[in-house]
This record gives sequence, structure tokens and C-alpha cells, in this order.
Amino acid sequence: MSNVPMQPGFPTTRLRRLRKTAALRKMFGETDLTTPDLIYPLFVVEGDNVKNEISSMPGQYQLSVDNVLRECEELQRLGLGSVLLFGIPLKKDEAGSEAYASDGIIQRAVRAIKESFPHLLVVTDVCLCEYTSHGHCGVIEDGHVNNDKTLALLIREALSHAESGADIVAPSDMMDGRVGAIRAGLDTAGFGETPIMAYAAKYSSAFYGPFRQAAESAPQFGDRKGYQMDPANSDEAMREIALDIQEGADIVMVKPALSYLDVIRRAKESFNIPLAAYNVSGEYSMIKAAANNGWLDGDKAMMEVLTSIKRAGADIIITYFAKEAARIINLK
Ligand code: PBG
Repeated sequence: MSNVPMQPGFPTTRLRRLRKTAALRKMFGETDLTTPDLIYPLFVVEGDNVKNEISSMPGQYQLSVDNVLRECEELQRLGLGSVLLFGIPLKKDEAGSEAYASDGIIQRAVRAIKESFPHLLVVTDVCLCEYTSHGHCGVIEDGHVNNDKTLALLIREALSHAESGADIVAPSDMMDGRVGAIRAGLDTAGFGETPIMAYAAKYSSAFYGPFRQAAESAPQFGDRKGYQMDPANSDEAMREIALDIQEGADIVMVKPALSYLDVIRRAKESFNIPLAAYNVSGEYSMIKAAANNGWLDGDKAMMEVLTSIKRAGADIIITYFAKEAARIINLK
């Protein structure tokens, strides 16, 4: 802001001059939200022609693979280029074995999407919580998630996603060392060109509440504070991101977005690497709930929130609003 003291004061300077018309505002807008920046999350379930609305996330659905394909068609029509897949298996067990089964729900969904929509970018969430009977993100030993035993399973999961055709794997488990472990596993198996999007600074957040209903992944005991980050910490977020970059992450993520805009900004200024932000389920549902009550204008609140996440420094945004935002962006 070193140029600010140089400008003459009022009335010579009037900042309203460049706000006067829509054309001026458009020309001097500093932040541009575009459809290729947006990743749309999808929840995939078993069955045929299943489309269950998620009650905690109005307008979002659990979809069977056939309906996922219909959804992909719509995404392409809207100019959206990527999806993030979450799988909900029929059976869960202690080791989350459906997460790395070659005929698992995600593996089949990825194959089906890549067959019909080869140009759509398919990102897969690599985590065990949707697949374990206890709902935690790893192997439980003595009542705790064992970090190093979990790594072996995450490698298998990431590899099976890559083998199914996933374009990017996105580990969200928050185990230490998982980016390096997955990178080595992918490289050894011949997937040296599959990028890793690391949920690098992922906080232990109340804003995941609606997602856990959607993904049926709430922990059956305790919470995730032993592996996800404390919302009070920002220095630690920088250490998490630095480690993930060292271990080979291609894209790093801050999650959630709205209560962590400062972390997004700090990450953008500290690291020269593509930065993603996850506009999580609770952030979506709050706006939906308020809009459905007539308390605020949902579309305007959505565009303001997404723009603020980009302004803070995110290069890409994972958001349940992707389709609604695309409709508005496409009208501009
Ligand atoms: C899996 C995972 C979660 C989310 C993304 N991946 C839930 C969690 O950590 O409990 C949350 C996404 C959202 O709230 O939209 N570990």
C-alpha cells in the first residue's frame, strides 16, 4: 500500500468514480471467479437410479453411478471441468477394506466416468472414514488411530483409485507422512504422473457436520482432534503445508475456507504452489438454511463467499455451490 499516501485527498480523489456503472465495476473488479476454478463434490452410493437428497445439504444428493453420469453431463454443459468423488460403500469394516477394493464403489464410479467423459477431471478423496465401521480415518489400535499402520492402507487406496483412472488423488486423512508414502507408492507402481492434492491444513471443524450425514462417516466414538488441526493454529498450518510440499504434494489445500481465510492468505504468500480451498458442507448448509428461510439472498451470499475465498488467495475452490455459481457466471 506504499502508493496510498501519494494520492491527493477528497475531493480530487473520489473512489466512487470507478464504481459508478456496471461496466466500470466489471472492468476494475480485482477478483475473477471462473468455472474452471470450481470442483464439484459428489457422493456415490450403490444401486441403480438412486438419488437421495441429503437432508442436511438441500440440493445435494447421494447418487448411484448411473445418476453420477447424468450429473457429469450437466456439469459439462455448465462449463464445469472437475468432480471430487466420495464413496459410500454397502458394508463397512474395521480396516475399511472397501476403500481399496478393485470393484469398490469409487473404483467403479471412476471407471464409468472416465469411459463416458474422458476429459472430465476426476479427483478422488483418499480417506478411510467412509469405509470403516468405527468411522475414524485410519486403523484403530488401543482406542487411537495408528498413524503408520494407516499409511499402508492409504497407499493401497490411492493406488486403486489411480488404477481405476483417477486424474488426481486427494488424501484427507491427516496422517503424518501420508503424502510421501502415497507418492512413493504411486511412483513405484508406474503412476508417476498422477498428481496429489493434499488436504494439507485440515482443521477439526464443526462445519463438517452436514458432510458426515451425507457420507455416513461420523466417528462412532471420540472425535478427530488427535489427527485434524486445532482451529486456533496458523503457524502449525504453515508447517503442515511445508511438509506436504516436501513430500511431493502438487496442490495443497486449506479446509474449511471461511473461518480460515487468513490461513489461505498466509499460505498464498508463503508458498509458490497451487492452492485449493474447501468451501465445506457446513458453509454451504448455513447459506442454504438462511436463504430457504428468506433471511438472506442465497445467490448473492454464495457469490460473495466464493469471491472472498478467491480474493484471500485460493486458486481453486471445492464447493457444493459449483453448479449454481456456474449458472450465474455463465450469465455474466
Ligand atoms: C474425510 C472428509 C471429510 C470431509 C472431506 N473429506 C470429513 C471429515 O474429515 O470428517 C468434509 C467435507 C465437508 O464438510 O464438506 N475425512
